[in-house]
Amino acid sequence: MRVFQVENDWSMDNVRLTTRPDPVPGPGQVRVGMRAAALNYRDLLVPRRGYGSRMKALPLIMLSDGVGVVDRIGEGVKHLSVGDRVCPLFFQTWVDGPPTKPRLAQSLGSEVDGTMADFMVLPELGVAPAPAHLDAVEAACLGTAAVTAWRALVSEGGIEQDDTVLIQGTGGVSLFALQFAKLRGARTIVISSSDEKLSRVRRLGADETINYRKVPEWGRRAREIAGADGIDHVVDVGGQTTLPQSLRAIRVGGTISLIGVLGGGAMDVPLGPVVTRHVRLQGITVGCRADFVQMAAAMATHALKPVIDRVFAFTELRAALDHLAGGSHFGKIGITH
Ligand SMILES: NC(=O)c1ccc[n+]([C@@H]2O[C@H](COP(=O)([O-])OP(=O)(O)OC[C@H]3O[C@@H](n4cnc5c(N)ncnc54)[C@H](OP(=O)(O)O)[C@@H]3O)[C@@H](O)[C@H]2O)c1
Repeated sequence: MRVFQVENDWSMDNVRLTTRPDPVPGPGQVRVGMRAAALNYRDLLVPRRGYGSRMKALPLIMLSDGVGVVDRIGEGVKHLSVGDRVCPLFFQTWVDGPPTKPRLAQSLGSEVDGTMADFMVLPELGVAPAPAHLDAVEAACLGTAAVTAWRALVSEGGIEQDDTVLIQGTGGVSLFALQFAKLRGARTIVISSSDEKLSRVRRLGADETINYRKVPEWGRRAREIAGADGIDHVVDVGGQTTLPQSLRAIRVGGTISLIGVLGGGAMDVPLGPVVTRHVRLQGITVGCRADFVQMAAAMATHALKPVIDRVFAFTELRAALDHLAGGSHFGKIGITH
């Protein structure tokens, strides 16, 4: 089978197309013939060993998102059949319940091989049914960014109708957050570096928008727009550079979901307001199988589809990663087999 893997040494230059023997499912496992994959910001960090010593020894098959069709079943598999269309799950052993160290120990495309292969062999509970209303590339986009946004806002965040949610950026996580916030009846404020992207998010239903390059004090502006005491929930993907403004924007007792550190990973904020204003800083690392299943059901009920920026061929992974690194994308970048 074809695979795209990091080989020999940790570097983007060593992300290469090669072949491996077709895998065979063991007891409790299924083999999935992969149809599509999708990129996440994380895939720019993986080739540089961005997740440290816990990562699998090389070679490592790239990417965490994908979709495929079950083509072989191992002994003892109970709930899946040949022909079922499934998405591999980001965390292979986090089925349900709260996060624990063992449940977070096996993520695709980091601790274990990822989705950039013609076939994957995975435990039965390491996959979940793909929503039927989505085509292959759309279904491939859900595993990481969509589950993260769902867990931040719904499973952990518990957002409610008429809450005001502030969403940073227009990448994968952010546009799913916008869609899920709208689904729950929340009012949304999106910030972006680009006026053109902001007009596109308004067409997707964003209620208010702010260009964070033109309005560096966007936290104060967002708080004014929210009225009352401020924002109920912030989806923070910037970390060090955005957290001070997120704290400006948040209401007493509000929640900031810390998801990404695009602007740096150090904590450089006055902590007094966190204490005195009862702010909940909530770290999120994707989510579990139950989150995926619940989110996929909601997307199917409301015929919700991911926003796809561009689709590349399997052999064009390096070009797709360059496109992601360029930052001009709006939503998800897909790969077809
Ligand atoms: N914790 C988790 O479970 C989890 C899961 C998925 C992703 N992440 C992290 O979340 C972040 C986003 O991931 P992604 O895959 O959605 O990336 P992405 O598709 O590349 O989107 C990133 C977007 O963030 C915006 N952005 C960049 N720098 C920013 C800044 N300093 N302030 C505000 N917005 C900024 C940009 O939007 P504009 O172009 O509109 O300005 C950019 O398009 C990454 O750090 C990633 O590692 C974490």
